[in-house]
Amino acid sequence: MAEQAAKDPFAPPPKTGIDRRTFVRRTVGSAAVGAVGAGAFSLGVPLSTTLGLKIKRFPYLGAARIKGPAPKGIPMIPIQVDEDGFLNGKTSVEGIGNILEWYGYCSHDAAPGLKESFTQDNKLYYFQNPEKIHHAEDAGIKIWYKDLLDKPLHIDHFTEPGMGAPFKWRSHGQLDNNIITGIAIRVNPSEVKGKTSLLDEFVDRDIIAFCSFCSHFCCVPGFKETKQAIVENVNEMIFCTCHGSVYDPKLIQEYQFPPNG
Ligand code: FES
Repeated sequence: MAEQAAKDPFAPPPKTGIDRRTFVRRTVGSAAVGAVGAGAFSLGVPLSTTLGLKIKRFPYLGAARIKGPAPKGIPMIPIQVDEDGFLNGKTSVEGIGNILEWYGYCSHDAAPGLKESFTQDNKLYYFQNPEKIHHAEDAGIKIWYKDLLDKPLHIDHFTEPGMGAPFKWRSHGQLDNNIITGIAIRVNPSEVKGKTSLLDEFVDRDIIAFCSFCSHFCCVPGFKETKQAIVENVNEMIFCTCHGSVYDPKLIQEYQFPPNG
């Protein structure tokens, strides 16, 4: 395997044009966009219209964006609790398609785990940036899964609604952008609102999960892990500190991805 730079996979991208350019390149193809300057688009602008290109789009279910600059919701990952109680991600859902395709954006398109053949292990493993844990604890926030890092998520760990944790999935031995990540949350099903018959395919034993790439500039949002979320009264939400986008994990909507078609 080629040597990979040891950098923090959770680090937010620069807030200048490079990551937007990267996202755009992944979305419509590098040749077509080579001459397009950074900052030329908002991700909410129809690129296919602007460039006269036909881009591939696919449906997804997502937590609704309720605040901030993100153009669309953050995608759900379908969950299945196995017979031993471990939380697994499902790689496909009838009526939706290949879930792994959602991860082919935000510069993660080369992650080996996106290939079905990479692994049969679809368990989710606790995964968090130590610096984020440090900041959370400094702010008086208890990170309940701190001693479980790198262990598989188990249904018995989520003892009550409102508990959530970040995870990695299909990423054994991977670094940086080859790691695919998400957030799992136990919910009270009666509180989940969503106009979709597909929701049952995504929820198991009251656990729901989301991809953790912000639909704005691909930063990694969190759940109940920052003082800022408490101060802004969005601690029950998925919150991206980069530019303040807020997603409601209990308000599910159907979208098309990429958001710029
Ligand atoms: S990357 Fe800008 S709000 Fe998330």
